[in-house]
Amino acid sequence: MPTIHITASRSYDVEIAHGCLSTLGQRAAQLVKGRAAALVSDNAVAAHYGDQARASLEAAGFLVMTYVFPHGEQSKSGDNYLRLLNFLAENRLTRTDLLVALGGGVTGDLGGFAAATYLRGIRYIQIPTTLLAMVDSSVGGKTAIDLPAGKNLCGAFYQPSLVLCDPDLLATLPEPVFRDGCAEVIKYGVLGSRELFDRLRETPARQQLEYVIATCVDMKRDVVEDDEFDTGRRQLLNLGHTLGHAVEAGSHFQLSHGQSVAVGMAMIARAAAKFGFCTEETRDEIVSLLTKYGLPTETDQSPEELYQTALGDKKRKGGSLTLVVPQEIGKCLLHRISVEDLPKWIEAGM
Ligand SMILES: NC(=O)c1ccc[n+]([C@@H]2O[C@H](COP(=O)([O-])OP(=O)(O)OC[C@H]3O[C@@H](n4cnc5c(N)ncnc54)[C@H](O)[C@@H]3O)[C@@H](O)[C@H]2O)c1
Ligand SMILES: [Zn+2]
Repeated sequence: MPTIHITASRSYDVEIAHGCLSTLGQRAAQLVKGRAAALVSDNAVAAHYGDQARASLEAAGFLVMTYVFPHGEQSKSGDNYLRLLNFLAENRLTRTDLLVALGGGVTGDLGGFAAATYLRGIRYIQIPTTLLAMVDSSVGGKTAIDLPAGKNLCGAFYQPSLVLCDPDLLATLPEPVFRDGCAEVIKYGVLGSRELFDRLRETPARQQLEYVIATCVDMKRDVVEDDEFDTGRRQLLNLGHTLGHAVEAGSHFQLSHGQSVAVGMAMIARAAAKFGFCTEETRDEIVSLLTKYGLPTETDQSPEELYQTALGDKKRKGGSLTLVVPQEIGKCLLHRISVEDLPKWIEAGM
């Protein structure tokens, strides 16, 4: 069973194994001195796995307090964050106690940010329950909540003490949410692994979850260890995201994040082929794998609309921005362009 060790400002294991949720209590007891744990989940995840997580913690001697909030991105709010902090304080959680974030990226980001800031930081464990959270958000220590002005505008880099990835938990994940995660998985293939890309083509991701998750986490480990605070190489993980965020916002969030990233990846692949960064064959391989996983590759928004939305994106810095451009399957480069050149890339990507 793969365990991937991450060396960052705090070092920790990411354990990927069927059934590992049941080891939570025992693993937690090795990590902290305290014997109280706050279990944080959205209502959908709590209904499926809350009892099992709680039982495991209690069996290891923890006093468990459960914080359940309504599922969905709207819960990554300042209100819910403060409610969670008050809950921790009212229950007298101390610095030697533990927070467990059991859920998708929303729970991980919210719980992680609460752990980063409550009493100036307590330990937390990530138990991702979506494919996206397993391959992306639970690893790397980015935590955040949304502000009315935009997503993830308030947060901290704060690494967990352990990540338990139990692929069995994906059995109850709604298919569209699973497909969203597949967009991120395909992203890793294009970024850094021809082998992953080919295996996704040959065998559905659902039938090789351990391999898929471990391969993605391994790649994320490499970029996070190299660039924990996202000032350089970690930007590679934005493949498909610069245009994808514009597509997502331009659809008024009717398109999901994964669907938008899929469109963004297809667009950047088309533009890359047009400008000679990659071959037409590479472009076609990317587009057809996305299609195979039921993901969209085109948008009906106009290039002008996309440009205007992209300009509002926080990744723009002083008149220029960095695109992640595919060169071949498994190899991408960071390409800095001026904002004035962006329309050209969007046109070429349509
Ligand atoms: N921190 C990072 O590095 C990072 C990276 C990427 C994305 N994110 C963030 O992640 C969030 C999106 O994450 P997400 O797609 O996991 O969303 P999510 O946490 O909202 O989960 C999606 C839906 O699936 C349900 N669900 C989750 N696990 C389930 C399961 N096993 N069975 C049944 N239902 C289940 C949830 O209740 C929710 O309704 C965004 O807020 C995004 O900003 C963070
Ligand atoms: Zn993403």
